[in-house]
Amino acid sequence: VKFTVESSGGNATSPYQYGIMFEDINNSGDGGVYAELVQNRAFQGDRLFHKNLWFWHPIGGTDLHLANLSDPLSSALPTSMQVTGGLEDTIGFWNEGFWGFPVVSSWQYNGSFYIHGDFEGDINVALVSNTTGETYAEATVEASSSSSEWTQYRYLFTASEDAPDSNNTLRFTMPASAVSGPLNFNLLSLFPPTYNDRPNGLRIDLMEAMAGLNPSFFRFPGGNNLEGNEPPFWWDWKESLGSLENRPGFPGTWDYENTNGLGLLEYLLWAQDLGMELILDVWAGLWLNGTHVPEDELGPYVQDALDEIEFVMGSTDTRWGAYRAELGYPEPFPVRFVEVGNEDSLNNGTASYGRYRFASFYNAIHEKYPDMTIISSYYDVGPVTPPFDASGDFHEYAAPVQMSSQFGYFDNYTNDHPLFLGEYAVVTYDLPGFNMPSWEEGALRAMYPFWYGSCAEAIYLLSAERNADKIIGAAYAPIFMNMNRWQWIPDMIAYDANPAHLVLSTSYRMVELLSSVRITENLPTTGGRFGPAYWVAGRSDETGSHIVKAVVYNATANVPFDVTFNGINAGATGTLTYLTAPMNASSTVGDDVVQRQTTSITSDNEGRFSFQMPPYSVGIVEIDAE
Ligand code: AHR
Repeated sequence: VKFTVESSGGNATSPYQYGIMFEDINNSGDGGVYAELVQNRAFQGDRLFHKNLWFWHPIGGTDLHLANLSDPLSSALPTSMQVTGGLEDTIGFWNEGFWGFPVVSSWQYNGSFYIHGDFEGDINVALVSNTTGETYAEATVEASSSSSEWTQYRYLFTASEDAPDSNNTLRFTMPASAVSGPLNFNLLSLFPPTYNDRPNGLRIDLMEAMAGLNPSFFRFPGGNNLEGNEPPFWWDWKESLGSLENRPGFPGTWDYENTNGLGLLEYLLWAQDLGMELILDVWAGLWLNGTHVPEDELGPYVQDALDEIEFVMGSTDTRWGAYRAELGYPEPFPVRFVEVGNEDSLNNGTASYGRYRFASFYNAIHEKYPDMTIISSYYDVGPVTPPFDASGDFHEYAAPVQMSSQFGYFDNYTNDHPLFLGEYAVVTYDLPGFNMPSWEEGALRAMYPFWYGSCAEAIYLLSAERNADKIIGAAYAPIFMNMNRWQWIPDMIAYDANPAHLVLSTSYRMVELLSSVRITENLPTTGGRFGPAYWVAGRSDETGSHIVKAVVYNATANVPFDVTFNGINAGATGTLTYLTAPMNASSTVGDDVVQRQTTSITSDNEGRFSFQMPPYSVGIVEIDAE
């Protein structure tokens, strides 16, 4: 492959090229990035997911049951766990956690619970091995509670050593003699250390993994999970604010109740902590079962979206901005992008979205925030263009054969409507006769990203980079998967309760590399033919370096590159970094299959850089600023 990178004639690129899309799927919020360790801490549920005592077990022969007291903890958390009876001197209960509890010796854990009932004595709270019975951390809470009010207790403990695995439980025990009458418990919580030490915060290893992707934007909170399965349930931001006692939870669309502990403010802080631009997805009047709000009833929902934006970015002089300040955050969180709904082309949504729903939201948001980029949630490259001056969100889940053929997919896309690639992933291996994944229940899907699929995704990302004047950015989806309970595969990062089990997939490694070096001005290249090698070129205003990003796909031997940069002198130096892995390989717990090679390169007398890249590799050449 021989080509020249011109010194002019390109375009400025989007500053947001790589980012994160997040929704609570695969226990990626509760049981994932939201660091709470107790599962079913407040017995939340509703008509879709009934309240239950899952993950709680009795100790000492007590009975555990759900109770709705006449004076509940709060109207949002009306149901508690009632403990009665007991056969032994020590009674209590234990929680399974999100499939275990991590025990790390340097960690200080932060716990709390509410109790209602007549009790005078010590409650022992301990992290205990399920296999050996060893206690790793414990605290004694001196409790004196009554049946006329709810009393909250807090405790701290530090683990004495690392547990060999996360097969541990959280046990609450107390002398039976100290109990007189039924005891009720609610909001039983335990947090490990969190990222940036935020109370009610996020899991450190997952935040660090995301930081490693150098993400520039954050699309949240969905995805399907924004929409809700059926009326009246949707991701109602107002119910995710304030103290945990006031958050009722929400029947997520992915088969489990969301606690809403991960609420709107937690999302905003998450974006702030990782330096990401917000892409706020507002609910657009469509439930996943296809029900949509009629035109003459949409007004309050449009107002709701305006209120949400005001909560996020309004000054403290506004009603919702003042409420944000009251919750402790007077500084607004700037919003430049709002997306209206999610995949509104599905579930019979297209007609109402096109007829009145999108326009209603667009007009109201545009009138109040004329500079805001408003993204329409459905878009097909081709005949459909978003209305007004809106952007479009294009999603693609594909087989490698399709994604690897889309290097030129966006080349003829209009400049009038910036495009956002809000979700993409290769989800299946190439199968003879199939070039599209099947969405039938049980259809063959890859469990984890695999290397040639990740290389196909890299070609798709280069197709976005070479059009990065009109493409806002791209996000892999879904980003997270709890290996104990998931609804969607493959996912970019897999984990369980044990931080040592983090799996940074082949697609993670690929994005980590491509996102680490940003081209701020694309430059045209002349010569060379695309396939099996694909490339984009440009330079960085920040570092002054010239850059080539390249993918070698279905080659059978190493591909030699001869690259000349117009305006770069003989003897210039740089580095080539590329990733390789066995073509079909996936990373799994303890086995990162992706290898990274970095070599120095120098141009010859004619200013030419010569190097090779192997079949199925993704690389970056950076020429040092002169
Ligand atoms: O990423 C998984 C799902 O795929 C999202 O929730 C939805 O937007 C898309 O269909």
